[in-house]
Amino acid sequence: MTAPHSTNLVRTEEMAMAQTLYDRLGGLNAITAVVGDFRDRVARDDRINLKFARTDLARLTKMLIDQVCEATGGPCHYNGRSMKEAHAGMKVTKGEFNALVEDLVATLKQFKVPSAEQEELLAILGPLRSEIVEVDSNEVGTALPDLFQPAPALA
Ligand code: HEM
Repeated sequence: MTAPHSTNLVRTEEMAMAQTLYDRLGGLNAITAVVGDFRDRVARDDRINLKFARTDLARLTKMLIDQVCEATGGPCHYNGRSMKEAHAGMKVTKGEFNALVEDLVATLKQFKVPSAEQEELLAILGPLRSEIVEVDSNEVGTALPDLFQPAPALA
């Protein structure tokens, strides 16, 4: 005997599977709000904010929105520096990377992003660690080296 509405059920599941992480996060407006809160949280966090001392925040905000939008399957195109290039010479420690991830998780919780979507996003961003961390230490709050060359401000 066939269960009533079984075809519809299967179709609903397939549609849910086909939805990109971008869609499930709530699209560009939601990603823009999440990035804004995350950026402000990082700016208040003494464990990592020294690194942003010479950064153009308008550029950083745009780049983060484009990166997250594209990486989650959205219609954006990230045209910033590679993660290796963007963070080269910044001397980010493992501890500082973890602090930034903690700030991101706090933002995602504040926006009530379900844990499955949180995990998917972290699974995309986590592997970038090896391109970003230059110092294998748990130290946090380390200074931005004088020689670090920030990216140019947005035109
Ligand atoms: C998965 C983790 C991370 C991601 C996805 C990420 C992503 C990005 C992106 C997209 C940019 C913009 C690049 C550009 O302007 O061309 C950027 C720049 C920057 N990131 Fe990260 N980042 C991460 C971790 C970190 C950590 C742990 C720190 C420091 C504690 C950090 C500090 C910075 C700073 C200071 C800039 C601006 C550099 C400049 O002014 O040129 N990032 N990051």
